[in-house]
Amino acid sequence: MKNTDRITVPRIRCRKKKGKKSVMITAYDYTMARLVDQAGVDMILVGDSLGMVVQGHSNTLPVTLEHMIYHCACVSRGAKRALVIGDMPFMTYQASVEQALVSCGRVLKEGSAHAVKLEGGREITETISRLVSSGIPVVGHVGLTPQSVHSIGGFRVQGKKRVDQERIIDDAIAVAEAGAFCIVLESIPGDLAQRITDEVAVPTIGIGAGVHCDGQVLVCYDMLGFYDDFRPKFLKVYEEFGKKGTEAVTTYIDEVHNGVFPAEEHTVKSKTAGRGGLRALYGGARTSG
Ligand code: KIV
Repeated sequence: MKNTDRITVPRIRCRKKKGKKSVMITAYDYTMARLVDQAGVDMILVGDSLGMVVQGHSNTLPVTLEHMIYHCACVSRGAKRALVIGDMPFMTYQASVEQALVSCGRVLKEGSAHAVKLEGGREITETISRLVSSGIPVVGHVGLTPQSVHSIGGFRVQGKKRVDQERIIDDAIAVAEAGAFCIVLESIPGDLAQRITDEVAVPTIGIGAGVHCDGQVLVCYDMLGFYDDFRPKFLKVYEEFGKKGTEAVTTYIDEVHNGVFPAEEHTVKSKTAGRGGLRALYGGARTSG
């Protein structure tokens, strides 16, 4: 199979047996989706973290189904190879199995996502089974479930106590048995993530869950260094785009003020401004829109 072939649900599922790790990253728009897809990620999660990193809220609860469909559609146009997963917003799937079928169906039909992600354990296994038997692939999510931020009293590591560990393990097993093709494990101790990874037949994808998971997921803006005030222990910042971006824009401002930009080479001459004008200006790309 060529490296450029679309990543599919069966391909992700069978990686566990082969011992091959899967890489997931979030994206919320076409440009970022293109970037991470061209880098070769396996799965793009259109996370409801968009409520925080795109919309600027303090948690994910305000995200609506319409927002998610819009962002999934943008990401899907930029992802040529990766599997695109739509993260189901708070209260678009919890009310009933029927509500979940309608909401998740829209994320696939209108957002062109290939799968959905639902937070929760045993309380949503009936929903997961119905979605899966209706042809909607599901990613599970246990451990820290940010949509329950008010119940758990903040974004805290889960599963430190024995009783919580047993609950999280039982939840992960139930979600896997209900038909989820992989499970996100968020903010749990590494040894607990290892136990779950050993117990369940489907790949575990960790964020703040240590090295023993079958794959990893990070929020794109976090790992690209867009925030200097959000650097949790689990995060590795691969590039300081926030700092570099601010520096670049500062240089741009200075150059406009000083008349350095635009220079001669950025200026279309009247000879080419007629027929070849746009092509000369955009170098052949983006002339149609
Ligand atoms: O919404 C999100 O980005 C997520 C990841 C952190 C797993 O759920």
